[in-house]
Amino acid sequence: MPHANGHFGRLATGAALGLAAGLVLPHARKAMMQAPTLAAGDWVEALKTEHRMVEKLFDQLLQTSQTDMAKREMLLTKIAYALNKHAIEEENVIYPALAESGRTEQSHHLGDEHALIKTFIYDLRRIGSTTAEWLPKAREFWALVEAHVREEEQEIFPAFRDAISSDENGTLTTMMNWEGLKVA
Ligand SMILES: [Fe+2]
Ligand SMILES: [Fe+2]
Repeated sequence: MPHANGHFGRLATGAALGLAAGLVLPHARKAMMQAPTLAAGDWVEALKTEHRMVEKLFDQLLQTSQTDMAKREMLLTKIAYALNKHAIEEENVIYPALAESGRTEQSHHLGDEHALIKTFIYDLRRIGSTTAEWLPKAREFWALVEAHVREEEQEIFPAFRDAISSDENGTLTTMMNWEGLKVA
């Protein structure tokens, strides 16, 4: 029965499109968050790309005024979201690998700073974006993030990358990307 087959064909196509949309749409955000990291192809470069993304968000955040409540909340949420993924990647793979290679102090120092960074997000939400205390607190937050990022990029990460084999670096990149996929 050609007609019935044709009808079934249309239904099947519609179902397939629906399924494809169902698979694709919830992952659009995931794909957007992952693309820069995965494109970098190297764990240090991937983390640097994420640092640049966070810097741009802080740039915008520090230019807001006390009346920009919605913008402040939106930017803080974006920063918290980006930092959350970033922290999972570093804390679940890179920092343990640093410790395993004997760089225990560096691993603990960076982990302690992440805990402080999380406290800043909590503090900013608690004090409220329409208060006079908010912007000075946001500036303190940025100062910590900036110093932390600089230490990772200019000292700790490149030295570690150079000290291990390219196979080990490849494994770290794969493991780190997998951690990022789970949360973004
Ligand atoms: Fe970090
Ligand atoms: Fe980092």
